[in-house]
Amino acid sequence: MSAAPAPEGTTPTGGPTPTGGPTPTGGPSSDPVVSLRDVEVHRGDHLVWSRGSFDIAAGSVVGVIGPNGSGKSTLLRLLLGLLEPSAGRVEVFGEPARRGNRRIGYVPQDDTAAQPESIRCRDLVALGAGGHRVGLGPFGAARREMAERVDAALAETASSAFADRRLSEVSGGQRRRVSLAQALVDDPELLLLDEPLANLDLRHQRETVELIERVAHRPRADGRVTTTLIVTHDINPLLPVLTGAVYLLDGHPHHADIGDVVDEHLLSHLYGTSVAVVRTPQGDLFTRSV
Ligand SMILES: Nc1ncnc2c1ncn2[C@@H]1O[C@H](COP(=O)(O)OP(=O)(O)O)[C@@H](O)[C@H]1O
Ligand SMILES: [Mg+2]
Repeated sequence: MSAAPAPEGTTPTGGPTPTGGPTPTGGPSSDPVVSLRDVEVHRGDHLVWSRGSFDIAAGSVVGVIGPNGSGKSTLLRLLLGLLEPSAGRVEVFGEPARRGNRRIGYVPQDDTAAQPESIRCRDLVALGAGGHRVGLGPFGAARREMAERVDAALAETASSAFADRRLSEVSGGQRRRVSLAQALVDDPELLLLDEPLANLDLRHQRETVELIERVAHRPRADGRVTTTLIVTHDINPLLPVLTGAVYLLDGHPHHADIGDVVDEHLLSHLYGTSVAVVRTPQGDLFTRSV
C-alpha cells in the first residue's frame, strides 16, 4: 500500500475543519496521558526511531502519521508495554508503560486475524471484558453486569444486529466494529487504533470515522475524558476529528496541533512527495499529492 497521502482527485470528507474541532480538556487532572522523554526504540538491531519527547493531553484525538515502516505501530506497542524502549522513558497515566493495563483499549492492525473464525461476535467482545480471566467466568450478578457491558459495547459500535453470528459470517467492516467493541467493553481511558480505515471502502471509512468521533467524545461514568490515538497512513478521512498528530519525520517522532501539521511543506517532507493542502469553499480541509 502506498505511503502517500490521498491520491489526486480524492473527494474531501465532510465535517468541520480541524481548527473548528473540539479542544482537548484536561479532565480531572491536566497531567498528560502519554509522556515520552528521549525515547529510542529498536526492533532487533534496527533503530526504528529516536529522540521521542512529547506529551499527549487527556481528551486529545491524535493521528499517528508517517510512511510505511516509520514506526507508527511501534509507538502503540511501546505504550502497551509490548516493547521496551532501548533508551528513555515511556509513561502512560503517569506510570511506566506496562502490559495488561486495563485502562487501555487496543485494536491491532490485523484486528481479528488471531481469533478463531467460529467464535461468535458477542463472545469475542466478552473476551475484552475483565471477567474472562476468572477461570470459569463470572456468575450471578457479575455475569449479568458483564453481559450488559457487552451489549452496550455492541450497541455503541452498531454491531448488535450481527452479535450472534460467527466471525466467519460477517464482513470486513463488521469485524472492524466488533474489534472496536472488544476494545471498548472495559471503558478504556486511552484508546489505541492501528489503521482502523485500512481496506475499507469510502462509505465504510466514513461510517468508521463517525464511530471513532462518537466514541472519542462519549460521556464516561467516571467523569473522565477518553484519549484516542489513531495510526493512519492517510490523514484525510480523519482530519475532521483530529486535534493533533504525532508525525514520524526523518527517524524522530514529533507531536503538534493538527493545524500545524496540515502544512504543505511538512507533509511533503514527511511523505517524500509533493503534497498540496486544499480548503474547499465549504471550509473542509484536505491534502492531496500533486
Ligand atoms: N517484529 C519485528 N521484528 C523486527 N523488525 C520489525 C518487527 N516489526 C516491525 N519491524 C520493523 O520496524 C520498523 C517499524 O515498523 P512499524 O512500527 O510496524 O511501522 P509502521 O507501523 O509505521 O508501518 C519497520 O522497519 C519494520 O520492518
Ligand atoms: Mg503499522
